[in-house]
Amino acid sequence: MCEQDFIPGEYEKSVPLGKVAWQSPSNIALVKYWGKKKNQIPANPSVSFTLKNCKTITTLEFQEKEIKGEDYDFELFFEGRKKDDFKPKIKKFFERIEQYSPFLKDFKLLIQTKNTFPHSSGIASSASGMSALALCVMSLEKKLNPGLTEDFFLKKASFLARLGSGSACRSIEGELIEWGEHASTAGSSDLFGIKYPYKLHEVFKTYQDTILLVDKGQKQVSSTLGHNLMYGHPFAEARFAQAHDNLDQLQAIFEMGNLPEFIKIVESEALTLHAMMMSSNPYFILMKPNTLEIINKIWEYRETTGVPVCFTLDAGANVHVLYPNEEKDKVLEFIKNELVVYCEKGQYICDLIGKGAEKL
Ligand code: PMV
Repeated sequence: MCEQDFIPGEYEKSVPLGKVAWQSPSNIALVKYWGKKKNQIPANPSVSFTLKNCKTITTLEFQEKEIKGEDYDFELFFEGRKKDDFKPKIKKFFERIEQYSPFLKDFKLLIQTKNTFPHSSGIASSASGMSALALCVMSLEKKLNPGLTEDFFLKKASFLARLGSGSACRSIEGELIEWGEHASTAGSSDLFGIKYPYKLHEVFKTYQDTILLVDKGQKQVSSTLGHNLMYGHPFAEARFAQAHDNLDQLQAIFEMGNLPEFIKIVESEALTLHAMMMSSNPYFILMKPNTLEIINKIWEYRETTGVPVCFTLDAGANVHVLYPNEEKDKVLEFIKNELVVYCEKGQYICDLIGKGAEKL
């Protein structure tokens, strides 16, 4: 499929007013997306677990305008309060998707959104937020064009979400989503995420992710700025090639449930992401001393107990602790006894792999 396939033709119906709502989860990348080309095209393919509990719930109410077209007309409420400072980001999103969703200018819109996780937790809400909004936009398009197929609906939702925030395109479906052209993955695309098309061992289908909130502050460096620093980065080409190679290796690992090899790739990906930040110009460090304390504790625990627990990191200081469901009791005990002290106000969030967004 190409970009043109997402430009709608004539609408079949006119809809004077209505309301749609979606809840959409966050996701955690195993192979990281870091570096992009024009129009949110990733510099390398990535793969992520869709999460279950960390999600955004968004309602879109729409009413046909008397004079259609012209500018966007929308109000935004976050957790029940009018939030004008979020509006420029949404407007920018609408502008980016304008040729694919031109009907948005024909309606007066009311967007109400909330997260199931604390806003200032340091957990990026852009993936769940942008995917929930993209799905609402698609539900409105579906009302205008009821003939849209389920497959097209989901692909276009992912395509639109990508234009809002790259990683958001991996938050539409579950459980494992690949995004970005990758020679060994049939159907993979730079334009949208796809459900991982090969065998996934049972162990991964209930995988746990406990998110340790090390630093709940605002991000010091936006991901847009971070991605841009991969232009002219001395290690960029080697890093992009490595992502392809890691995805190749993961195919057998996902199939066989080979946890020792899974751990090696996942932890290496997390540290490579941060190594790219530390070696860019300008350079920066997003990990905090407590991030490193936690990583060392996880290594020590894994070494002494043999429990296959590992970590991954986002573009921040928080640590995602990943482990099989059958190790849950032991790992939660370990987290409470040894890792919670490194979390800001002792806070952590228990999540697990999920099946994707749901229409409400
Ligand atoms: O979607 P963005 O532009 O916020 O980028 C997210 C990048 C990482 O979270 C660091 C990695 C990833 O693949 O999710």
